[in-house]
Amino acid sequence: MAKEINTIGVLTSGGDAPGMNAAIRAVVRQALSKGKRVVGIKRGYAGLLNEEIVEMDAKSVSDTISRGGTILQTARCMEFVTPEGQQKGAEICKKFGIDAIVVIGGDGSFKGAQKLAALGINTIGIPGTIDLDIACTDYTIGFDTAVNTAMEAIDKVRDTSTSHERCSIIEVMGRGAGHIALWCGLANGAEEVLLPEKYDYDEQRLIDQVVEARKNGKQHYIIINAEGIGHSQSMAKRIEDVTGIETRATILGHMQRGGSPTCKDRVYATTMGAMAVDLLCEGKSNRVVAHSGGAFVDFDIDEALAMKKGVDEYMYQISKSLV
Ligand code: ADP
Ligand code: F6P
Repeated sequence: MAKEINTIGVLTSGGDAPGMNAAIRAVVRQALSKGKRVVGIKRGYAGLLNEEIVEMDAKSVSDTISRGGTILQTARCMEFVTPEGQQKGAEICKKFGIDAIVVIGGDGSFKGAQKLAALGINTIGIPGTIDLDIACTDYTIGFDTAVNTAMEAIDKVRDTSTSHERCSIIEVMGRGAGHIALWCGLANGAEEVLLPEKYDYDEQRLIDQVVEARKNGKQHYIIINAEGIGHSQSMAKRIEDVTGIETRATILGHMQRGGSPTCKDRVYATTMGAMAVDLLCEGKSNRVVAHSGGAFVDFDIDEALAMKKGVDEYMYQISKSLV
């Protein structure tokens, strides 16, 4: 028989993402509505190991749904990657009467949840990352806000790029995944997108295309470069040196992780947060909430972590053909 859950902990882990607060709020309020006690664990797994555990009531999440960042703070914690750290974490949960934890984060954070589940703490993961790089789900909390922030910034760079008839390299986040770059490529009508999953490092081809576009009367040349490829400044210098076309690099950086979440991020975060609590109350553990095939569903964390996701091939093809 499934053990009864009385106290649910909630934490955010890894890179923050707009909408995490909406997810925390939904976890807290849904748990309270089911008569459960809720505690917030500050600073991800680091805070768990430091016993940074605070009681949460309905008021503690008031006025947070529209706020970016995470009110619980987030951290990366190497100690928790070790079996000793995980054992210590599970013992601290028992000490504080925490039966279950909702982990809001990415794949790395889900690995931590998987380890806690194996040690008897029921866990549910919620996909929270601007990178959209969690294979089991077609949506991750924060992506919509981040990609809209990036799109608006790129529109602005495009204006000045056209006025000055320049080539512009704009670097967006995504150390291992090119989803933000690809979506911006389509949304901003960029001439080129460079994705970690696809880039062949053939810079001469890129240079030839910049020259060809100028010959054909293009007033600007927008290259969206994913963080995983990086080196935007030196790439800009090389393009300018070889082509004689003024080239500038803009690195959007962490602005993409901040800001008030969009409606989509708030609604997905809210639904996923409530669903995580419902799953725990049904006695489920080691699951991750996802959106797949048009519905909110859940997967076993082991299966979710084994899935692979690339960028959408058709979207990538048309990013090349619509220039
Ligand atoms: P994300 O969750 O966004 O993928 P990270 O990969 O940085 O971010 O992981 C966040 C945290 O999750 C790490 O700092 C660590 O505390 C925990 N974590 C990552 N990998 C593991 C693992 N294999 N076992 C246990 N905990 C892990
Ligand atoms: O949140 C995801 C992400 O933005 C990745 O694209 C990037 O690689 C990473 O976080 C950078 O995070 P930080 O600068 O906080 O280490």
